[in-house]
Amino acid sequence: MKGIVFTEFFQFIEDNFGYEMVDELIEETQPASGGIYTAVGSYPFNELVSYLTYFCKKKEMDPALALRLFGHHLFNVFSKNYQQFFKAQNGSFGFLASIDNHIHVEVAKLYPDAELPKFNIISQTETEMVMHYTSERKLHALAHGLIEKTLEHYHQKGEINTQVLGEDGSQVQFKITLK
Ligand code: HEM
Repeated sequence: MKGIVFTEFFQFIEDNFGYEMVDELIEETQPASGGIYTAVGSYPFNELVSYLTYFCKKKEMDPALALRLFGHHLFNVFSKNYQQFFKAQNGSFGFLASIDNHIHVEVAKLYPDAELPKFNIISQTETEMVMHYTSERKLHALAHGLIEKTLEHYHQKGEINTQVLGEDGSQVQFKITLK
């Protein structure tokens, strides 16, 4: 997993729960990396899982909620740092469709070792879009948070319906209905 995910996860924790919590996560989970990440480096995904597990247990928070909130934070970072991807689209459906066929393609070119999810657009009308998320990392709740902020970014209101396909959570359907 790319370092940017870790550095932004720590930023998210620090902004909302204080720097001491970041320290505690590193201290208590003893990551192989020592908890030192650079944006372009790659690190074991299980370090993120350990942080999330420890944090959610300590705070009695549902991991899916923590990931969704982290998704909101990450979206703000992306929309500041990669404005061109947002300007290229004039609505959330166009933007969401461009993740798989453009944005993540560019990410993969820059970082061949990036571990990216797959998004398949199943159907799309003016007001409804169905897309499938597939990833062994099972971070669909992170995707959910990113989609929520995408709607907000384009000043659109809507409902996001989530349905886990299969048993292990590696495939999830999002149905987005605009109001
Ligand atoms: C400008 C916008 C975006 C950029 C630059 C971007 C870039 C990235 C990068 C660098 C990673 C980390 C890959 C790794 O750790 O190896 C990532 C992962 C991910 N991205 Fe994007 N992304 C963007 C928008 C989105 C949006 C809007 C969504 C959701 C609909 C999304 C869903 C995800 C998810 C869920 C992951 C976690 C990895 C996984 O689930 O397998 N991304 N993205």
